[in-house]
Amino acid sequence: MSGIIRDAGPDDLPRILEITNHAILTGTALWTITPATLETRGAWMAERRAAGHPVLVVVEEGAVQGFGSYGAFRPHDGYRHTVEHSLYVDPAAQRRGHGQAMLSALIAHATQAGLHAMVGGIAAENTASIALHERFGFTAAARLPEVGAKFGRWLDLVFMHRLLGAGPAPTAPHRPGEPA
Ligand SMILES: CC(C)(COP(=O)(O)OP(=O)(O)OC[C@H]1O[C@@H](n2cnc3c(N)ncnc32)[C@H](O)[C@@H]1OP(=O)(O)O)[C@@H](O)C(=O)NCCC(=O)NCCS
Repeated sequence: MSGIIRDAGPDDLPRILEITNHAILTGTALWTITPATLETRGAWMAERRAAGHPVLVVVEEGAVQGFGSYGAFRPHDGYRHTVEHSLYVDPAAQRRGHGQAMLSALIAHATQAGLHAMVGGIAAENTASIALHERFGFTAAARLPEVGAKFGRWLDLVFMHRLLGAGPAPTAPHRPGEPA
């Protein structure tokens, strides 16, 4: 079964919050133990929107089953052709193709936006996400041992990386005040 991907709106925030907090409290996809709130998720969505970045949801039988987004990889303007993405599917709806549909939509969005590279920062123990990303042509470009900690153990971070088609040539040199 597969769902429909659409842009998220403010009405989707309660489900996005629920899925986020389940991931925070039970797993190592998000390296924090502090639950999110409607306010923090709302601010995140508004920030992504203001930057022209997508926040997408996957909907099945009228209910949001997952969400995905991307944003700046790192703050300096030299990274402006690269984004870092994330996606989450409700545990009750996993392994039904929603992750695939969401990752495919994020890649398509970034490609259409003329971006050059996508990076996912994934816990090395998250074999599900790593397998999903490998299916979409991402490769484990770097593994950083013990850069995180949660639930009383060290966590390794794997950066999964994928280039996006040819894309435009980088604008160079980029000077402050010039359009990117
Ligand atoms: C990773 C995640 C998004 C995958 O979503 P999903 O909807 O279950 O994934 P899909 O059903 O589309 O699966 C696509 C492929 O990913 C891989 N995969 C997904 N779950 C897997 C699992 N538990 N074990 C191994 N491979 C898995 C498989 O290759 C699968 O294809 P297959 O079902 O034909 O074998 C989901 O497990 C999740 O939300 N996990 C918690 C949050 C998280 O880890 N997010 C990613 C952080 S970057």
